[in-house]
Amino acid sequence: MTFQTDILIVDGVIQLAETLAELFSVEANEAVRSKNNFMTAISGGSTPRQAHRLLTKEVYRQKVPWDDVHLFWVDDRCVEVNDESSNYGTALRDFVSVVDIPENQVFPMPTSVNPQLGAEQYEQTVRDAFTHFEISTPQFDCIFLGMGTDGHTASLFPDQEVVWSGAQMVLAVKGGHPNVDRLTMNFSLINQAKHIVVIASGKEKAQLINKIFSEDKNKYPIQRVEPINGKLTWLLDKQASSLL
Ligand code: 6PG
Repeated sequence: MTFQTDILIVDGVIQLAETLAELFSVEANEAVRSKNNFMTAISGGSTPRQAHRLLTKEVYRQKVPWDDVHLFWVDDRCVEVNDESSNYGTALRDFVSVVDIPENQVFPMPTSVNPQLGAEQYEQTVRDAFTHFEISTPQFDCIFLGMGTDGHTASLFPDQEVVWSGAQMVLAVKGGHPNVDRLTMNFSLINQAKHIVVIASGKEKAQLINKIFSEDKNKYPIQRVEPINGKLTWLLDKQASSLL
């Protein structure tokens, strides 16, 4: 499987946030220009938060075609929305409650039901959203991923390959920090995307990033991010890319 991989290296976390916010805006405008909607999914974690907060700035409130943005989550923890570890709750507070995105185009994961049922429900929600636009295979325009220092992405963890090597598009898992029940998109859905952006910052990720680009494939879940008919962009700061 061959796909285009770009590596963007920026100075530090401020430039990473600025680049990520601009990338979101560019991707959204390109998608809306071509098909009147932007189907996107975001991850949790700390790295994207500054970019998310930048999206509430007037320039992005104007530039991003929020009316046509359909926002999904790559993963979430099965906790209350007001819990600080909730990816939806955090994004809601960081930008979703501020920008002019229609409420019925925001799709939080059903984290308050039985996790297995929640995974099935969210997979159906994703399928229905694409069927609404007469698209049979859910192909997101852009999916934004982070990466843990253990090589996980989304909530797809190294010691759970048996879980994420199947065709199911949304999974119920348990793991990570905090070690709680989670819902997560699987590679079978993520890799359908037209564009996947992986962000990483900080020196603590430099060693792993060097391994990912130099050692054998498929050792870490992040290495299973392989867009089938799309593009993969790594957005790194200088510290995270320092051993490349
Ligand atoms: C999650 C995230 C997760 C995150 C990485 C990186 O819910 O835990 O989706 O995959 O992207 O753990 O997190 P940081 O950005 O905090 O390093």
